[in-house]
Amino acid sequence: MTITISPSILNCDVLDLRCELEKIADADFAHVDVMDNHFVPNLTWGLPVVEQIVKSKVLPVDAHLMIEDADRWAPAYAEVGCASVTFHAEAAGAPIRLAREIRAQGAKAGLALKPSTGIEPYVDLLHEFDMILVMTVEPGFGGQSFLDSMLPKVQRTRRAAIRTGVDLAIQVDGGVSRSTIEACAEAGADVFVAGSAVFNAEDAAAEVAELRRLATDACAH
Ligand code: DX5
Ligand code: ZN
Repeated sequence: MTITISPSILNCDVLDLRCELEKIADADFAHVDVMDNHFVPNLTWGLPVVEQIVKSKVLPVDAHLMIEDADRWAPAYAEVGCASVTFHAEAAGAPIRLAREIRAQGAKAGLALKPSTGIEPYVDLLHEFDMILVMTVEPGFGGQSFLDSMLPKVQRTRRAAIRTGVDLAIQVDGGVSRSTIEACAEAGADVFVAGSAVFNAEDAAAEVAELRRLATDACAH
């Protein structure tokens, strides 16, 4: 399994965004959290800022949309060039149609699940997605504690992908750090979002490398 590291820029120094992106240039993606203050009680940036990050070309953008009415807004994130666009199952009226629209724009389509949303209703739809995002905190803020109770969901998602023969990435987001990444990899995750672990580290690039090493070793066992 190839390990993918996607640091979240949620809590980086936004006044120095290009420099912050360059610090994590050895990562695979920049994870960009879009929050609308309705789906989650926090507000970040929208399409124009995300488009600028895409245009900076420092890293491909992994957009995580924590917004209501994903059906209305998500395709535009693919259109402006995000490499992957992940919307929440709880915010999409027609997730299959939406995933197809995102893929038609040439982006990967991801489905995110809040901690209390199960994978079971989506098992027959896995082939419509490139990635399932299992939230390991309640969405909305960086710096929260990792929810161990999400690991069985990661395992069930990986087993369902294997059983149905779908080539599926499984992303974990929230509280991912040196102390939690191995358990996530052992459970079957292969895409790791880390915000505070990377941007609070003395050396963000070294932290990305260390997280990659820990996840790769855990997968090898
Ligand atoms: C939270 C966001 C995360 C957040 C992760 O809702 O989706 O991407 O930035 O931050 P940490 O790694 O600090 O939990
Ligand atoms: Zn996120």
